[in-house]
Amino acid sequence: MGSSSLRSANTRSVIRGCGSYLPEHILTNDELSKRVDTSDEWIVQRTGIRQRHIAGEGETTSQLGVKAAQAALDAAGLTADDIDLVVCATSTPDFTFPATATVIQHALGITKGAAFDVQAVCSGFVFAITTADKFLVSGSHKRALVIGAETFSRILDWEDRGTCVLFGDGAGAVVLEAQPGDGSLEDRGVLTTHLRSDGAHRAKLFVDGGPGSTGTVGHLRMEGREVFRFAVGMITDVIEDALKALDLTAEDIDWFVPHQANRRIIEASAQKLGFAPEKVVITVDKHGNTSAASIPLALTQAVSDGRIRAGDLVLIESLGGGFTWGSAIIRW
Ligand code: ACO
Repeated sequence: MGSSSLRSANTRSVIRGCGSYLPEHILTNDELSKRVDTSDEWIVQRTGIRQRHIAGEGETTSQLGVKAAQAALDAAGLTADDIDLVVCATSTPDFTFPATATVIQHALGITKGAAFDVQAVCSGFVFAITTADKFLVSGSHKRALVIGAETFSRILDWEDRGTCVLFGDGAGAVVLEAQPGDGSLEDRGVLTTHLRSDGAHRAKLFVDGGPGSTGTVGHLRMEGREVFRFAVGMITDVIEDALKALDLTAEDIDWFVPHQANRRIIEASAQKLGFAPEKVVITVDKHGNTSAASIPLALTQAVSDGRIRAGDLVLIESLGGGFTWGSAIIRW
């Protein structure tokens, strides 16, 4: 084995800390109902969303990501020097290139290792943590910043009430560290990950522009009812895969932290899988669907309010454009 490899028989990617950031400006449902024909009542009843945060003029995805990443580093008691991998999940990069991860890397003063983006829309964070886990477990890298950062307000059609009420801006991040484990379920860290994609569903949720097609940024388009129809079944499948891989049942999970798209999808999946409502972390009411940022935003909330503690078993899950979907079970 080469001297650069840190691999041990049962290396685990352990979460050392997490952090998040929401832009200052809050847009309430009532304010939105002055711009499009909607109402607080309709939005709350169908989605559970009460407000969303909107990035300020000139405030970019990387700037939100830097703040979340710095908070995660602080929570971990680490500095830029300790990080040798930056993976940023985003569908709203500052630029077509370079990768937003490299912008964040430079802003934080990280000079070691690699930085790159992962694009799996709302599943981005699950895909990014899975990717970083494979790097750490292989021994090629030691500590990763995994970030989900989005400014979906920039790709919304603000005249389409069917979509503009659902999304918001924000960022969240975790620091993952390679640590030795014994290969058992008692190990801290990422214990299992499951990713799926099926491009056949593209037309149900997509952006109608891009550098290689229209040369424009484009706007988000969605057949909401169709997305809803598929979401619960796909989410359930990938969670059952995760539970089966570790020979667990829903009762063994301490916290279910789903992608925060819509309260009804979250509650329907939790009920179908048998998660008690008090084990389900829901923050969508406060920030709407922030795509790849939503899981680390919810994780940070549940850690800071004392719900998630060291040793707890946490299940994360998401479904996004593509479709892409995935799950991971992590011992905190
Ligand atoms: N305010 C008021 N009325 C509205 C609004 C609105 N914001 N949006 C749509 N309506 C109207 C429609 O025009 C329609 O009126 P009509 O019956 O006169 O034609 C009526 O409400 C019902 O429309 P539906 O689209 O059928 O409403 P539905 O009950 O399906 O709720 C919603 C729409 C909330 C989008 C739902 O389909 C949903 O939650 N889908 C999942 C979407 C989602 O979460 N996507 C993201 C997940 S994946 C990811 O995170 C990228």
